[in-house]
Amino acid sequence: MKVVAFNGSPHQEGNTYHAIKLATDELEKEGIETEIVHVGNKKIRGCTACGYCAKERNERCVFDDEVNEWIQKMKEADGIILGSPVHYAAMAGTMKSFLDRAFFVASVNGGMLRHKAGAAVVAVRRSGGVATFSQLNNYINYSEMVMPTSNYWNIIHGMNPGEALQDGEGVQIMRVLGKNMAWVMKLVENGKGAVNEPEAEDKIFTNFVR
Ligand SMILES: Cc1cc2nc3c(=O)[nH]c(=O)nc-3n(C[C@H](O)[C@H](O)[C@H](O)COP(=O)(O)O)c2cc1C
Repeated sequence: MKVVAFNGSPHQEGNTYHAIKLATDELEKEGIETEIVHVGNKKIRGCTACGYCAKERNERCVFDDEVNEWIQKMKEADGIILGSPVHYAAMAGTMKSFLDRAFFVASVNGGMLRHKAGAAVVAVRRSGGVATFSQLNNYINYSEMVMPTSNYWNIIHGMNPGEALQDGEGVQIMRVLGKNMAWVMKLVENGKGAVNEPEAEDKIFTNFVR
């Protein structure tokens, strides 16, 4: 099994990276392969709502950049971790550009991420952690993913790169998340064939006025 983790920070080895790494180290200990993809330093534009992905349904965004590779990485993985630093009480802009495009493509192509494990982690100096955690969780919830949890919200505190490793409680949160994610992934894997997956329903798409 494999987990792909996306680091939405501009810092390659900043606090978001450490949050992810604390969790992926535990996954590796449980025999699960991991890969960390650096999103936050790339030039990724936002979704233009052009509808190309919904019309073509070829698992691609019309903009031919790294996002299309990352969509395939998510498709191939059994679990996904979304990591972002807090920027102005919200996720980092590049991460949002990536997630809006990738999850829209996944959604219009028959729920590409359905029943994969998905978790979010956040790095923050002081405030905005829970808001950012909720933003990231929205993508996971929307996609019928299975969400492992920890013993608190998955937020670690620090300012300069590496400082978050001094946050003892945050370190534990990420470690416990990694252990629980490995366990949940094994449950899903071992349940295949033994427990029937619910059939996917066609999505009812109303806009409240008709
Ligand atoms: C543009 C920008 C905005 C930020 N906004 C906030 C904020 O709203 N609240 C906060 O507590 N920290 C804020 N920070 C600090 C980062 O969240 C913090 O340093 C975090 O640990 C960085 O993680 P990283 O090393 O993975 O980039 C901001 C940092 C930047 C660069």
